[in-house]
Amino acid sequence: MLRLEGVSHSYDGRAVLRDVTLDLAEHRIGVIGANGSGKSTLARTLNGLVVPDVGTVSLGEWNTRRHARRVRRRVGFVFSDASHQIIMPTVAEDVEIGLRSLRLGAEETARRVDRILERFGLDSHRDHPGHLLSGGQKQLLALASVLVTEPEVLVCDEPTTLLDLRNTRMVHRTLERLDQQVVLFTHDLDLLTGFDRVLVIDDGRVVFDGAPGEAVPFYVDRMERADREEADR
Ligand SMILES: Nc1ncnc2c1ncn2[C@@H]1O[C@H](COP(=O)(O)OP(=O)(O)OP(=O)(O)O)[C@@H](O)[C@H]1O
Ligand SMILES: [Mg+2]
Repeated sequence: MLRLEGVSHSYDGRAVLRDVTLDLAEHRIGVIGANGSGKSTLARTLNGLVVPDVGTVSLGEWNTRRHARRVRRRVGFVFSDASHQIIMPTVAEDVEIGLRSLRLGAEETARRVDRILERFGLDSHRDHPGHLLSGGQKQLLALASVLVTEPEVLVCDEPTTLLDLRNTRMVHRTLERLDQQVVLFTHDLDLLTGFDRVLVIDDGRVVFDGAPGEAVPFYVDRMERADREEADR
């Protein structure tokens, strides 16, 4: 289980995460909050892309400060702009590259690549350059490239932000079906229906932690109140 204990982080002396303590045990966890509230920073602490100034982030007995590689291997990360994750000449190579560090041998590597390309409907594109895929297909490729390594947890930072409705639904359905634990950071509140738990982040703090049916109205209400206060000023 991912556990954050007293996590605080600053950029250039400005606090972005403030004393966050969480046990992330649920199968489907959503995280929402305004622009700049600290979501991406929090997301990045979960697999050690950001090591917090203060506090620890751990997965079981390993923490991201001392065992970054081990944690990163088990916590997959998907960015909102999949094109950052598409780096190889072909779709199949993009999937394969993530497996190299696992040293599974040629046969097992090929088997896993074939299986995941088929599962994500990308097998007919295997020899095409990934950057020529559609937006939705790119996001699926990014997901495939991470899932092929069989992480325990998948952290997604706004995976549908750049997608149209159809591709958003496709990625949503794909996430829904995963066996893995998913921690989804999103502005798309509709995606959170059926989630086990939703956290609301405001100014680097967890200000709500509960069921989506309560978290979403809490967030909307807080935003509307902030709007009114601004208008009154
Ligand atoms: N690498 C960095 N260097 C300096 N400041 C940063 C860096 N990354 C983030 N910040 C700052 O930290 C604050 C929180 O950023 P973060 O990206 O975590 O917010 P967010 O909640 O993900 O926002 P959004 O909804 O727009 O994605 C912002 O004020 C941002 O400018
Ligand atoms: Mg962000």
